[in-house]
Amino acid sequence: MTTTARAQGATIWLTGLPSAGKTTIARLLGDRLKAEGHRVEVLDGDEIRRFLSAGLGFSKEDRNTNVQRIGLVSEVLARNGVLSVVPVIAPYADSREAVRARHAVSGTPYVEVHVATPVEVCSERDVKGLYAKQASGELSGLTGVDDPYEPPVDPALVLRTQEQSPSESADAVYAALAERGLV
Ligand SMILES: Nc1ncnc2c1ncn2[C@@H]1O[C@H](COP(=O)(O)OP(=O)(O)OP(=O)(O)O)[C@@H](O)[C@H]1O
Ligand SMILES: [Mg+2]
Repeated sequence: MTTTARAQGATIWLTGLPSAGKTTIARLLGDRLKAEGHRVEVLDGDEIRRFLSAGLGFSKEDRNTNVQRIGLVSEVLARNGVLSVVPVIAPYADSREAVRARHAVSGTPYVEVHVATPVEVCSERDVKGLYAKQASGELSGLTGVDDPYEPPVDPALVLRTQEQSPSESADAVYAALAERGLV
């Protein structure tokens, strides 16, 4: 039987406010990693909510359940050699810590990136119109406005996207992975 070198997987979690730039950066990073021959999966929040987390809402409990489910899937992928990029808000520190702990059990790298775009900039971008809906009273419980966002205390990387292009931000994440020997 021949043995082949096993790819090193990891979870790269992009946490931050709505419109911070998580999906944009995840796609750019994912495309680059794929082009380089890595096995890559992008687990985006919206898609996941339609399927894996269908029926869950935006209460603290449901947000935690959503993050734990995504964390489980991502850890399984990462443990099996996939670079799993997760552009999901994950507003609560304790649920992110539980995901980190799940990775630690199997010795699987977990790289937390804070997409730290200030709320003023996010609400200007307002890609999905959520900030406008919150302001007009059509919606409540918007993360960073009238729902909590607990910033990571010790992330691997902090991105100030208001001062960078999307590709500069994606390059910075790539560099953080390179520093850790993951790419
Ligand atoms: N440096 C940057 N990195 C990422 N996005 C940026 C940057 N500069 C500007 N942008 C713009 O900010 C917007 C971010 O939207 P995106 O959908 O990626 O946000 P998100 O964090 O995934 O939001 P949500 O939580 O609502 O899904 C895009 O229009 C993107 O072009
Ligand atoms: Mg997104």
